Amino acid sequence: MTTEHTTETDAPPTERDDHMLEVDDLRTFYHTEAGDLHAVDGVSLTLDRQETLGLVGESGCGKTTMAKSIMRLLPRNGEVVSGSIRLNGVEVTELSEKQLREEIRWTEISMIPQTAMNGFDPVKTVGRQIVDVIRRHETETPKAEAWERAKELFENLGLEGSRVHDYPHQFSGGMAQRAMIAMALALSPSIILADEPTTALDVMIQDRILRQIKDLQREFDTAMIMITHDMSVVSENCDYIAVMYGGRVVEFADAETVIKNPRHPYTLGMRNAFPDISEDDQDLVSIPGSPPEVIDPEEGCRFAPRCPFAEEECWEVTPEPEQFPDGDQHVVECHRADEAEYLRAEAEKKETWLSVQEGSREQRLEELEVNDD
Ligand SMILES: Nc1ncnc2c1ncn2[C@@H]1O[C@H](COP(=O)(O)OP(=O)(O)O)[C@@H](O)[C@H]1O
Ligand SMILES: [Mg+2]
Repeated sequence: MTTEHTTETDAPPTERDDHMLEVDDLRTFYHTEAGDLHAVDGVSLTLDRQETLGLVGESGCGKTTMAKSIMRLLPRNGEVVSGSIRLNGVEVTELSEKQLREEIRWTEISMIPQTAMNGFDPVKTVGRQIVDVIRRHETETPKAEAWERAKELFENLGLEGSRVHDYPHQFSGGMAQRAMIAMALALSPSIILADEPTTALDVMIQDRILRQIKDLQREFDTAMIMITHDMSVVSENCDYIAVMYGGRVVEFADAETVIKNPRHPYTLGMRNAFPDISEDDQDLVSIPGSPPEVIDPEEGCRFAPRCPFAEEECWEVTPEPEQFPDGDQHVVECHRADEAEYLRAEAEKKETWLSVQEGSREQRLEELEVNDD
């Protein structure tokens, strides 16, 4: 060693914020007769090894579209129109179908679809399908060994090994879901996208399956994006939570912060709908109305029509993401996020939500003016 190195040159050549999965300003539209539907409209996320990220929101907020964009499994009318998806530094949006099949799906990222049954071919035994996936990617693995692995995976998930010889229709919903998880794990992918993996199942089986997923995740070092509309599922199972509304992430932070100290009225409303995670004994109240189908988005907050706290500004100015120091990476898109304590107190009252009258922008603005006088 002849020269002294400065601290800078000693630093490793990789960037410090090098994430396993990095989604940046992603926009995915569906081309429809009514125009382009902005299902995902500027979402940025990161995921690191072994992390579990919860993606929550009501039906129609863009969660499945996020997952399908990452897997590049969008239907014909769906298109990633801008933004990037980098997996271990590789730009997924630029890969060919062949590269995706050979290098990404199942081996790097697996998806457990919303309805597991649809993930299987009805005319082949479930074991056969798992063996096919294994052997397509590991051509040197002998057949018998692949079958052994399929059986082991089944047993890990609490299914009898011999059931690998059954056809999908011989499985109950819960069993099919587990078999799908077995298939998703078969090649030890770095990431699992679990799209409402237990929504169709009864609560006891749900819990058991979620626990099994967690155990396997630890064993195989797998990262996961867990998609659900149920806040109580993510509160127990995730490191970070992203709350989606109208194609955007409206609140993001570590799970504890999102559950205990949320700042976005939408998160507050979602939390009320699942009372087992809030400390007080309170009535179940759901947010009136439903999420928008975003075509030709107007200025203003997308949640304003359903928000009990919407003010004039909310209707007229689109909120920018704002960071708060009260949690790990706590980012909120709401003009009133700095009044969180007031919002939290009001959001606990049933009347607050019952008072929301969904109306047109004009009607709501007129009301606001009347109340101001
Ligand atoms: N194939 C499609 N064509 C047109 N619109 C679609 C299609 N699939 C989903 N959408 C719309 O995209 C939005 C987001 O849907 P989705 O990603 O399925 O939400 P989530 O999974 O949160 O329920 C919704 O408004 C939905 O109606
Ligand atoms: Mg969905």
